[in-house]
Amino acid sequence: MAQLIDGKAIAAEIRAELRKEVEDFVAAGNRAPQLTAILVGEDPASQTYVSNKMKAAAEIGINSVTKRISADTKEQELLDLIHQLNKEDTVDGILVQLPLPPHMHERVVCNAVACEKDVDGFNEINVGRMCLDMKSMIPCTPLGVQELIKRSNIETFGKNAVVVGRSKNVGMPMAMLLSSDGKNETSAMDATVTVCHRYTPRSELEKYCKLADIIVTATGIPSLIKSNMVKEGACVIDVGITRITDENGKSKLVGDVDFNEVKKVAGHITPVPGGVGPMTVAMLMKNTITAAKNLAEAKKSH
Ligand code: GUN
Repeated sequence: MAQLIDGKAIAAEIRAELRKEVEDFVAAGNRAPQLTAILVGEDPASQTYVSNKMKAAAEIGINSVTKRISADTKEQELLDLIHQLNKEDTVDGILVQLPLPPHMHERVVCNAVACEKDVDGFNEINVGRMCLDMKSMIPCTPLGVQELIKRSNIETFGKNAVVVGRSKNVGMPMAMLLSSDGKNETSAMDATVTVCHRYTPRSELEKYCKLADIIVTATGIPSLIKSNMVKEGACVIDVGITRITDENGKSKLVGDVDFNEVKKVAGHITPVPGGVGPMTVAMLMKNTITAAKNLAEAKKSH
């Protein structure tokens, strides 16, 4: 029976470490780190995500502000707001909650956030730097998965990893981190990585998964990963979150993995909820503290 990777507990442990880090940073004469979230429109899921992020920030000692703007705001107005926050000395981290309304261009908006304040790691310069194994802001969900793997002492060096899903914010950066080279300056994983996606035939997906020592799945397709696709002892990380109505008519969250069956063959497994989700928020806090420290350092050397 697989060992459960308790993301909720690990994230709580990380938040406690980060709280101490902020205390030390402030005791050394710095102001508390500051995170500004921009929420465009009234999407209920986005409102919940942003409110959870702000709660976590408060708990750690990070000051946070949410700028709410209406869904019919012109893109240029949003860009002007971002440019203003980029210049603002008291702002360390900026995040624009996604998705954006259809008239806005996500790439243009993500690129407008100054690299050093880009705590989501979505600016194309940070993405490029990550692909080159250079120091950068790394997107919070793949960074959280990397941290779960590290803290669960799962070997990645020379191992076979399969990433299911190639989204720009999760699957792609996850594949980059798993294949990152230990000869470079970043935290290395050195795995052999295969990326499967919507055009990977089902029979091929099964073959690749069966070879994997580590599977990270991020598709939003419930029960995509079945027990016959998992090698005995493999580590299975489930990034999927889908709301379904179960057989009793109750609404609940499920991942991409057929959890009750896969746990019988896997070596390690993350639950949904309580696996990767809380880690994403913890990593956002970590990135905000990193941004605050880098900016304080840069200011000193001027
Ligand atoms: N929407 C869903 N996930 C994310 C995320 O990690 N960051 C932002 N900014 N928006 C999101």
